[in-house]
Amino acid sequence: MLDLLVHNATLPDGRQGMGLGITAGKIVAVGAGLTPATAPARETLDAGGLLVSPPFVDAHFHMDATLSYGLPRVNASGTLLEGIALWGELKPLLTQEALIERALAYCDWAVAKGLLAIRSHVDVCDPRLLAIEALLEVKRRVAPYLDLQLVAFPQDGVLRDPQGVEKLKRALAMGVDVVGGIPHFERTMADGALSVKLLCEIAAAEGRMVDMHCDESDDPLSRHIETLAFETQRLGLQGRVTGSHCTSMHSMDNYYVSKLLPLIAEAGVSVIANPLINITLQGRHDTYPKRRGLTRVPELLAQGVNVAFGHDCVMDPWYSLGSADMLEVASMGLHVAQMTSQAAMRQCFDAVTTRPAEILHLDGYGLEPGCHADFVLLQAQDPIEAIRLRATRLAVYRRGKRLAQTPASTASLFLEGRPGETSLMHRSG
Ligand code: FE2
Repeated sequence: MLDLLVHNATLPDGRQGMGLGITAGKIVAVGAGLTPATAPARETLDAGGLLVSPPFVDAHFHMDATLSYGLPRVNASGTLLEGIALWGELKPLLTQEALIERALAYCDWAVAKGLLAIRSHVDVCDPRLLAIEALLEVKRRVAPYLDLQLVAFPQDGVLRDPQGVEKLKRALAMGVDVVGGIPHFERTMADGALSVKLLCEIAAAEGRMVDMHCDESDDPLSRHIETLAFETQRLGLQGRVTGSHCTSMHSMDNYYVSKLLPLIAEAGVSVIANPLINITLQGRHDTYPKRRGLTRVPELLAQGVNVAFGHDCVMDPWYSLGSADMLEVASMGLHVAQMTSQAAMRQCFDAVTTRPAEILHLDGYGLEPGCHADFVLLQAQDPIEAIRLRATRLAVYRRGKRLAQTPASTASLFLEGRPGETSLMHRSG
């Protein structure tokens, strides 16, 4: 007797009429033959032919800043640099209680949207490490329902801040998981490169993963991703290192990129693009044409580099919108990178599910026997339709238990001669 049987499901790889058998929080069987008649279970969930996906994963977020929009003022220029300055104004005013309250509120949004794993950068430049303490507490509190991975992020530059290294190491000692960095914000290119070397050495010595904000600018000569790939190889950190943003690659010379991409692939470095934020913050110094600023996603994927999409910001000094909806992130990535083929649209869905799960080294992620019984039932028939509709999360499960549900989205029509209902669903291609 199973604990739970999910039947009549479509899976992201296109298999239809599938059943998932779940016992003790794990998927124990997956197959077309699993039905209530063949696989008795204490509880059944009829997916109605709709898409059952593993949960959404956000590989790049800032939970210490989230939901602080307007505190103490809004970003007038809309630039990354004013955002950093504004965050600097807000930092001394932060309290642990407010940080925890906002982060927990965001985690509620995340669960409602089927987003059950988040990697959050946390600023380590405050000598009190208030945000680190707060986010470690949040990590403990949300652990039953959400995997929160924390990155020690020296927002002001690990070398630009005289106590940068000491504070970052202190954050790691407190239990932060990943080493962060921001080489393009150091005082010089040389210092940026030095920071990459230093931070990778700290990660190698402490057995940590690395995720650096890397070249988040429109400057085609910002090439710290090259150093990151080099240090990854030198220190044997393949598969454990990520370059986040990499927006300068949008503006780089094509010849240089033809050398760079194979180096990134060879080093096993992953890349995280943040489409909503990159399209908003980059190109701000341009007149026309204005650059999009998104890194070269299809080209990186074609080289075999793992690329994920992150949300980065929700209602904070850098971005005034957002709702923990990774399908909105995927939709923006699809549009800005012009990933419009059937295969590319599916890659955009993977970029907010399986690909970030690999970057975070999530244990037991997926819909195969042996995986955790974590999944989302979407009001869509396939991944492309899920992106098109930002599909309603009909049900969200973790370890075989329901965490959230949302009523189906249906419009009633009062048209003369054509009364009825529509859910906007229509199987794509
Ligand atoms: Fe970021």
